[in-house]
Amino acid sequence: MSRLFRRNRIVGIIAGLAILVIACNGVGDLPPTRDPALPPHIPDAANGERLFVSESCSACHSTGSRRITGPGLAGIGASAATRDAALTTDQYIEQAIRNPGAFVVGGFNNLMPRAYANLPQDDVDDLIAYLKTLQ
Ligand code: HEC
Repeated sequence: MSRLFRRNRIVGIIAGLAILVIACNGVGDLPPTRDPALPPHIPDAANGERLFVSESCSACHSTGSRRITGPGLAGIGASAATRDAALTTDQYIEQAIRNPGAFVVGGFNNLMPRAYANLPQDDVDDLIAYLKTLQ
């Protein structure tokens, strides 16, 4: 009786872990949603500048024209509009952050981490506002 109980408990733990892994994977691909009860978010370029460093964007991107692992982001507000005719400037920059493999800038490799897919929408909006200030 107690051996059966022990085996069931092990099966239960394994099944629980499997469900957890599946659940985490599923959620991982969706950007976190914003609580609709909150007032609309006003993009904050100053916070975007802070995030650009704290999220390590600056490890791969200069804010001028210098190339590091990724392209320098000066003028991205204008060049973004030329990347994909189907996307607005903001949509292109958001896609570049959340799903970098969707459009790979010519002359560069698809090396940008995919983890930014999970950034809160407010943070992405702040990053976009900041990047558009780079001349
Ligand atoms: C490990 C290096 C790395 C990190 C970290 C990184 N990127 Fe990138 N990024 C790249 C590379 C390489 C490309 C060019 C290939 C491509 O288009 O995916 C790129 C492309 C881009 C582009 C498109 C540029 C253009 O000219 O069209 C944007 C915008 C961008 N990254 C923003 C960001 C932001 C914002 C962050 C931080 C949240 C970030 N990146 C973090 C490597 C990185």
